[in-house]
Amino acid sequence: MDFSIKAFDTKNTIASARSGCVAVAVFENRKLSGAAQALDGAGDITQALKSGDITGKAGTTLLLRGVQGVAAERVLLVGLGNADSVTEKAYSTGVQAALKVFATLGAADAIMALPLAEVNGRDAAWAIQTTVLAARDAIYRTDAQKSKKDPAPAGVRKLTLAVPGNAAGKAALAQAIAVANGVKLTKDLANLSANVCTPTYLADTAKQLARDYQFNVEVLERKQLEALKMGSFLSVTNGSEQPPKFIVLKHMGGKPKDAPVVLVGKGITFDTGGISIKAGPGMDEMKYDMGGAASVLGTFRAIGEMGLKLNVIGIVPSCENMPSGRATKPGDIVTSMNGLTIEVLNTDAEGRLILCDALTYAERFNPAAVIDVATLTGACIVALGHHHSGLFTRDDDQHNALAEEIAAAGRATGDTTWRLPIGEQYNDQLKSNFADLANIGSPGGASCTAAAFLENFTRKYPWAHLDIAGTAWKSGAAKGATGRPVPLLTNFLLNRV
Ligand code: BES
Ligand code: MN
Ligand code: ZN
Repeated sequence: MDFSIKAFDTKNTIASARSGCVAVAVFENRKLSGAAQALDGAGDITQALKSGDITGKAGTTLLLRGVQGVAAERVLLVGLGNADSVTEKAYSTGVQAALKVFATLGAADAIMALPLAEVNGRDAAWAIQTTVLAARDAIYRTDAQKSKKDPAPAGVRKLTLAVPGNAAGKAALAQAIAVANGVKLTKDLANLSANVCTPTYLADTAKQLARDYQFNVEVLERKQLEALKMGSFLSVTNGSEQPPKFIVLKHMGGKPKDAPVVLVGKGITFDTGGISIKAGPGMDEMKYDMGGAASVLGTFRAIGEMGLKLNVIGIVPSCENMPSGRATKPGDIVTSMNGLTIEVLNTDAEGRLILCDALTYAERFNPAAVIDVATLTGACIVALGHHHSGLFTRDDDQHNALAEEIAAAGRATGDTTWRLPIGEQYNDQLKSNFADLANIGSPGGASCTAAAFLENFTRKYPWAHLDIAGTAWKSGAAKGATGRPVPLLTNFLLNRV
């Protein structure tokens, strides 16, 4: 899909723009947006609304041909709901509905002229990103490993986004495309089967990104991890034939001495549960257990393309969690990099075991903030479903501000979070008779005890944890990675520049 930006004015009117289709908004109660009025010289649109063929509810559409006084071949009316309060959700529903119609047209190009002024507190950059991400999402295909590729998507290939003023439009479009490319890399990596997308494959991808965007990259191998005393991370890889990889990417776009933001992504390329083995049905979806890692690499793809003026470090501990004669057993006690001993009561609670050593490793960068991203707990899906990622931080002024900063970055991109608690009570649930910590808590609040476990390793810097178990991929007929939380993370980083 090719995107371009155009600002229309009284000389360059929407009515005189030639294209296969122009989409304009209408509202409930037969109200027309400004652009719809501009195309209604002969009253065709008013007439269509009167006929009742479109209600104006968010996501409703009506295609008109040969509208008098309009140069475009077709006019697509798109409902955005209540004219007085167009929500972000109504707007993106409208965008998606318009894109769906565009995909069926025998037209090569179209103009998206939905209004912005009406959308609560959002600007053109927001609309551009919403539209670009939705359009790229709609044409995404999961046929990388099919011998016969899915047919190329039909319909509109060139999309012109109508914006109010031209000022920020071009830069906002470039930024939106960078985010979309990051989302695509994240989806591509996560959707690959686990026999292809191994820790080595993730490391190779990081090296390629480093070549493409001049990142510094380091991949630590087993010997180096042993020297660093990452006994917790290494205990997870014991049962696997695939070598573990510990990936460190550096984008030094800011001043050399500025403290970096560190992103840590869980990179379990397949989670069988280990000796505490998972049930069979649906286990294939545990190829997505590297969704956090994929989102860190996708975010680097985006910030590399943007040339983001900020220091950002990405850390990806990656291995498989497999059962074997060498695998870690329930009750085994391991020593983490920071010296805390851990009783592995359940080998399926492996994410925290690899993350804790990565979080200790992060200390060396004196981070301004560390955000870890992980498909950490099934319980997070029970709590929040597939709508929001779980957001955890300590509960003090500094961390409440960090949590709000992350939550706001999520809201602004439709890549939302919801805050869940950690604290002493949850830490108490992790007591072990034989080690400093157990890797699972007593029953109840499994997402919170998992986060509380991680908190023990993050006391040297501001820290937040995103549990993306419910948001990183979709199951069922639409099975596939979502690319979340790349929009959130890039937006968070952009706001920090
Ligand atoms: N990768 C899983 C979490 C997961 C499960 C994410 C299902 C998405 C869907 C994680 O490693 C895990 O197995 N967690 C356990 C923790 C438990 C043993 C305390 C879980 O959630 O069951
Ligand atoms: Mn597990
Ligand atoms: Zn896992």
